[in-house]
Amino acid sequence: MRQKLVAGNWKMHASQQMVTSLLEKMLSKQAPSAKLLVFPPYPYLSQAIQILAESNIGVGAQDCSQAEDGAYTGEVSATMLADLGVSHVLLGHSERRQYHSETDASVVEKAKRALAAGIIPVICVGETLAQREAGETNQVVSQQLTPLVKQLSLAQLQKVVVAYEPVWAIGTGLTATPEQAQEVHAFLRSLVAKVDKALAEKMLFLYGGSMKPDNAASLLKMPDIDGGLIGGASLDADQFLAIGKAAE
Ligand code: G3P
Repeated sequence: MRQKLVAGNWKMHASQQMVTSLLEKMLSKQAPSAKLLVFPPYPYLSQAIQILAESNIGVGAQDCSQAEDGAYTGEVSATMLADLGVSHVLLGHSERRQYHSETDASVVEKAKRALAAGIIPVICVGETLAQREAGETNQVVSQQLTPLVKQLSLAQLQKVVVAYEPVWAIGTGLTATPEQAQEVHAFLRSLVAKVDKALAEKMLFLYGGSMKPDNAASLLKMPDIDGGLIGGASLDADQFLAIGKAAE
């Protein structure tokens, strides 16, 4: 049985006041049994880690450098994130692919850096609406995930979490149906199973793309949906915890 994981990707939304009020409101409510993670922007990681220090809520980063350290102005290394106490890192989010030239190859390099620093990579894959309408969904997500499956060792791969985020569902209010999401999750798990069936069975596959309190339960009851990667709804403590509750 895989423990459900519900993660909140705050994207570029935060202030010191918002971080304190959002996280303290989350802490004031009964925590769901599902594992919760929040992914604040870089400047607020330490504040979030400090507020959540006595809780079971983990803190992740939204990206990391593919370099170990050195003359890379503006970059943040995985070792720096580990030094702060970050436990997870999002890699390959469609917004990084769209606006920051993230590639399947750079995602693999970043995943290796994260794993070397003891950080769990959450690998984001997903197709655009045009690719779905062209019947290319499986081909696209396979191209995005296969390099990682091929280049990581089994010991590394068993630490990886995958998030399926259909690009056409991100921030649009358009959510994949449970059946659509389940189909892709099962396909992704089958790609990993080609390498190691037992590892594939244990791997967590999260769904992201307009998951909200009113649709979370129907998505999370699907056999290969092991949690959610939440954007907008994670900026509201009640909505985020409601999704966490639906994951119990
Ligand atoms: O990484 C999660 C995000 O892309 C989903 O955003 O607002 O559709 O829940 P949203």
